[in-house]
Amino acid sequence: MATIARGDLSDDMNVPLEAIDPSDASLYAQDSWRPVFARLRAEAPVHYQANSPFGPFWSVSRHADIQAVEARPDIFSSSHEFGGITVVDLFGEFNLPQFIAMDRPRHGEQRRTVSPAFGPGEIQRMAEQVRLRTADLLDALPIGTPFDWVDTVSTELTTQMLAILFDYPWEKRRDLTLWSDWGGDIEAALNPATKDIRQQHLIDMTHALDALMAQRKALPPTSDLISLMAHSDAMGDMPFQERTGNYILLIVGGNDTTRNSMSGAIEALNLYPQEWEKMIADPGRIQGAVAEIIRWQTPLAHMRRTALCDADIAGVPVKQGDKIVLWYISGNRDESVFPDAERFDINRPNARRHLSFGFGVHRCVGARLAELQLQILFEEMLARRMTVRQTGPVERVPQSFVHGFRTMPVIIERH
Ligand code: HEM
Repeated sequence: MATIARGDLSDDMNVPLEAIDPSDASLYAQDSWRPVFARLRAEAPVHYQANSPFGPFWSVSRHADIQAVEARPDIFSSSHEFGGITVVDLFGEFNLPQFIAMDRPRHGEQRRTVSPAFGPGEIQRMAEQVRLRTADLLDALPIGTPFDWVDTVSTELTTQMLAILFDYPWEKRRDLTLWSDWGGDIEAALNPATKDIRQQHLIDMTHALDALMAQRKALPPTSDLISLMAHSDAMGDMPFQERTGNYILLIVGGNDTTRNSMSGAIEALNLYPQEWEKMIADPGRIQGAVAEIIRWQTPLAHMRRTALCDADIAGVPVKQGDKIVLWYISGNRDESVFPDAERFDINRPNARRHLSFGFGVHRCVGARLAELQLQILFEEMLARRMTVRQTGPVERVPQSFVHGFRTMPVIIERH
């Protein structure tokens, strides 16, 4: 049966459930995913799609069920050996071992290797740098002249952050953006016209970061990610594909996600200007607002697991080998946890229960750093009395994994 994208569904909610395909890129390109997931949560919270371009998969759309799957990593595997952590099965040359796509014990060993880069002391140290470079960037923005928020602010700030984390040559930092864009693009990985180009970029990235790794190995250990890896048992001597996998994990993890929350914040504040007024009136609310921004935007729409044995999810039997897609974008709109979930509300008392960072053993290791960047961005904008207005339609990323924006035309006014 042909699958149906949401444009059709909103007109006719009587389409058969089995025709719904939440992995359809057009849902995200057109920002039309909301009624699809509302219907799945209500009628088929554990839903089977037999005919997607990515093969058959289960969709888990309710908050509690997503957490329940993530709480059983010994049954629901993240491992790249079974296809990895997105709806796209990446096998053969594209099968990249990386610790987000590993199970224990290797996952824990590698996670522990990089974790010190995100510890409280490091976060405090980085906060000063983040504030200085955010201030510099905001001071250089045009006032009253339209520009693209995504490239000028979101991409630039998160790329700078990554260059700091990797201690990557500053003038070449846009390399990291290029690799992040290709690495996170699952549609490009599947498309015969682009998959080789993507692969070449990943190879280039590995050579460049390998050279840094060799340099750092020869020096005393420091706290940047490359040095932490170079001097560790768990990551100091990885095979080529595993190096590629872990480099791209750290680049996409730290880049696309935070970038899209910085842009999503602007969209939310333009749709709900009264929330911005509240932040202007009381900048002390920014910290609370950050959790709500990350919930509302949901920078990664899903993560995927593979069933290691026959099991059940909320009473629905699944078979060994089945692909299970956990739709964070839906769990974050689950009304049983977040009343009036579509509303962007900086005072939402339980915004921190969002699923955007995942749950359980793989929960995002960079979460605090992402929150810090958003918090400082809004503190510095308020300090400069900057209000950002959208001036036209945005262009969205047309895929079901990275959920975000390609462009967002804006103008800055003083409030
Ligand atoms: C708003 C921004 C961010 C979002 C929404 C986000 C989201 C996520 C999600 C959903 C996971 C997987 C969780 C799971 O499977 O349960 C994850 C893991 C991860 N994230 Fe983030 N992330 C963000 C920022 C960052 C930053 C700044 C970094 C720093 C480089 C980072 C690095 C990682 C890494 C290394 C993992 C793998 C953790 C593991 O498997 O143990 N992320 N992130």
